[in-house]
Amino acid sequence: MSKLEIRESQPGDLAGIEQIYGDAFPEEDLLPLVRELLDFGPSVLSIVAVDENAIAGHICFTFCQLEESEEMLALLGPLAVTPALHKQGIGSTLVQAGFKHMETSKAGCVFVLGDPNYYDRFGFQAEEKVLPPYPLPDEWHGAWQSIQLCDPEAPHEGKLTVPEPWRKSVLWTS
Ligand SMILES: CC(C)(COP(=O)(O)OP(=O)(O)OC[C@H]1O[C@@H](n2cnc3c(N)ncnc32)[C@H](O)[C@@H]1OP(=O)(O)O)[C@@H](O)C(=O)NCCC(=O)NCCS
Repeated sequence: MSKLEIRESQPGDLAGIEQIYGDAFPEEDLLPLVRELLDFGPSVLSIVAVDENAIAGHICFTFCQLEESEEMLALLGPLAVTPALHKQGIGSTLVQAGFKHMETSKAGCVFVLGDPNYYDRFGFQAEEKVLPPYPLPDEWHGAWQSIQLCDPEAPHEGKLTVPEPWRKSVLWTS
């Protein structure tokens, strides 16, 4: 792998990003969500890792809030790395790059629905007080996680309100 370039995605990256999700999630069709997020505008931060002019990884962060709160929060996902380049630190680099952006965007807390065995390395912990937008299947309980990136204005409690691309129960239940 040559030196990785990390930058916000551009419209010309779409085909490369789509390729990664097809390869990394062969049994899950995340493309409709990814396309909607990329079209959604400034509420979504989309970052790519580029290796030798090819998209090697992609991550999205969607800015959101708790019901009845103005505090800026973020939802991480999806994240994918091209399978041939797994275990070379690309996923971690993308997560950390996103965290840096969160500091400038003043999003103090990031939520994720994902495998805790992967996300605990970044400091994510099971989230008990903030509910996901849709009830999760029992077996996914520990997959709903959060990380506090800076001091909270107030303790987080309530239900996460997400924008349109994430308002599909199927994204949270299967
Ligand atoms: C998860 C994913 C993004 C990690 O990308 P990556 O570039 O390989 O990640 P990194 O190199 O930063 O970290 C690799 C480490 O994570 C581990 N890892 C990856 N997925 C894991 C999982 N689901 N559970 C536990 N560990 C996992 C690898 O075994 C490796 O461990 P090591 O450091 O001990 O060798 C990538 O494997 C991927 O695209 N997977 C398919 C899509 C997916 O599951 N995305 C969402 C994650 S919940």
